Amino acid sequence: MRLKLLLIIVTFAIHTNYSQQISSPDSKLTLTIKLSESNELIYNLVRDGKTVIKDSKLGIDLSDQPDLMGGFKIDAVVTSNFLEEWEPVLGEVDKIVNNYNQMQVTLIQPKEKRKMIVTFRLFNDGLGFRYEFPVQDNLKYFTVLEENTQIALTGDHKTFWIPGDYDSQEYTYTTSLLSEINSARGKNVDEISVKSIPGDNFVQTPLMMKTNEGLYINIHEAALLDYPAMYLKVDKNNFTLQSHLCPDAYNNKAYMQTPCKTPWRTIIVSDKAEEILSSKMILNLNEPTKFEDVSWIKPKKYIGIWWGMHVGTMSWNYSDINNVKLGEVDWNSLTPNGKHGATTENTKRYIDFAAKHGFDAVLVEGWNVGWEDWFGAWKEEVFDFVTPYPDFDVAELEKYAKSKNVELIMHHETSASVTNYERRLDEAFTFMKDHGYNAVKTGYVGKIIPRGEHHDGQWMINHFTRVLEKAEKYQICIDSHESVRLTGLHRTYPNWLAAEAARGNEFNAWSIGNPPEHETILPFTRFMGGPMDYTPGIFQIKMDYYKPESKYQVHTTLAKQLALYVTIYSPIQMAADLIENYERFPDAFTFIEQVPVNWSDTKILKAEPGDYVIIARKDKDSDDWYIGAITDEEARDFDVKLDFLPADKYEMTIYKDAPDADWEKNPMKYEIEKRTINKKDVLKLNLAPGGGCAIILKPL
Ligand code: NOJ
Ligand code: CA
Repeated sequence: MRLKLLLIIVTFAIHTNYSQQISSPDSKLTLTIKLSESNELIYNLVRDGKTVIKDSKLGIDLSDQPDLMGGFKIDAVVTSNFLEEWEPVLGEVDKIVNNYNQMQVTLIQPKEKRKMIVTFRLFNDGLGFRYEFPVQDNLKYFTVLEENTQIALTGDHKTFWIPGDYDSQEYTYTTSLLSEINSARGKNVDEISVKSIPGDNFVQTPLMMKTNEGLYINIHEAALLDYPAMYLKVDKNNFTLQSHLCPDAYNNKAYMQTPCKTPWRTIIVSDKAEEILSSKMILNLNEPTKFEDVSWIKPKKYIGIWWGMHVGTMSWNYSDINNVKLGEVDWNSLTPNGKHGATTENTKRYIDFAAKHGFDAVLVEGWNVGWEDWFGAWKEEVFDFVTPYPDFDVAELEKYAKSKNVELIMHHETSASVTNYERRLDEAFTFMKDHGYNAVKTGYVGKIIPRGEHHDGQWMINHFTRVLEKAEKYQICIDSHESVRLTGLHRTYPNWLAAEAARGNEFNAWSIGNPPEHETILPFTRFMGGPMDYTPGIFQIKMDYYKPESKYQVHTTLAKQLALYVTIYSPIQMAADLIENYERFPDAFTFIEQVPVNWSDTKILKAEPGDYVIIARKDKDSDDWYIGAITDEEARDFDVKLDFLPADKYEMTIYKDAPDADWEKNPMKYEIEKRTINKKDVLKLNLAPGGGCAIILKPL
């Protein structure tokens, strides 16, 4: 890893209330801090002379002692700058530049004799800041009642939002003005089984906004560790956002012991939507990894015994009994239900297919006992993570997978019984390593045990970290479902390959699903924090294929499912459909066979949240480029310049919507064309309603 470091420190202590400023390295952004009349800390953010964030207050309310919200004196302001270049273990680009100007403001409350530091980092693409609490006599332990970070916006911006739910992010996005936000009436609220929405005005981050003047603003957090996730409470009259943290069972927010710090609050700003997507600010605000050896962390393109359960042709459960007490059931005596997906034979079929088509791995869900009544039982002991069903031969499959050079991906559905999972974690990870598994998809469906805790609370945040740290000891990679959304922590914990933490493709199998615009909003929201296991690649679009009465469908064309492999970044990426469906469309499947999941360069060519995204990426292991273009429900035509390409001439294979394709009326019609193109050419793309196109470029 190459590292360039440049550090200049200017220190001055001031006891009066002068305002202090820093600007971004390119001087476009200016941050000003000052104290209010009642000695609260205030900041504002200006871009090119125009206010982006108006005067906003910072502070923290405590439940066990006087608050840290006012009565401050500025004790010192330290400014510095920083420049480094680092290489992510897996990623969208080879190298990331981390360049910011920093201002560290030390505040003291003279009466309480307490100290709080607020550190601001101003990058060319935005602002990050956090609260820090050094060791001190009058602040050893404290309980956070609420963090009062304000973000005062300049107007009634257009906003892409989902309700601020303590337990789920699996919603589709509503696009509205800030003043029109009504979380309790957000889309799909009734569909979510475990929901805890505190009120009408709460939204989740990453929150994407666009001003009337065409400025894009994205708000999220970075490095969420030992602290609850943050939501935003919207004041619809003043257009001010206020932090709201996920509570615990006592309605407290966080328990802190000095020295300690909060996560970074992030505000990414640009007048180009494309620059929001290429921002690396959130990753840059996370600490470099402390893992000494990262050689075992490998990207994975995988298939799985999975979609069959979601469309109803297979089951997770082996039998149809409905009351399982772990350890008290004689599994061998039960009658199989005939639909069990995770059989030795079926798994071998998937391993064969993976080997034949160049996949790294096969995920198998439903391999272990307990699925008979896992859902909604809210019981302590659901799964033990080590006992296979009688028809799943772990040792035989380990041997078979190895002989075909294919990995098996473990599945640990915890059913949100997290105490049970933690208790069994060492045993579960040992079992994995004993049988050749290097990665696990974890799941947290249901209401959390310990009861009263939420998926996004401090207790669960610490659980996710404990799992990552233990997994590193066993050299295991994690793909977490129903976990907290990512905050760039995959820089620090590169074994966190991806999370779900948003509404994935699976919703299209068994609900009204995800509208065609969904995948054009996700990059600006959920993906700002890191990779998502979205599970693209569904070829059989309409679900009446499985159940004649079904009205459900994937809300894209088949070509758009291919394009998602490029527009979505994840180092663990599934080809989610049944292998029988891939066998029906072998020519379209060649794109999935070829597309990489690890990249050395990425260019965001065109993007607009809610409308379209066009991204080009370079394969890490060759000079091939890939382009993915997707649109919402509208047909769109684009002229795409190819002058970013390094070579002059390429052989282009383009997988595109047929002229009469349409996500609703004719979703599975596509065409494949092969021709030579030149980097000086302008590529004409015609995307169908809900459509997309996927392109492979090989230098000639
Ligand atoms: C929800 C996950 O998102 C899905 O992928 C999984 O199949 C089920 N839980 C069962 O664990
Ligand atoms: Ca899920």
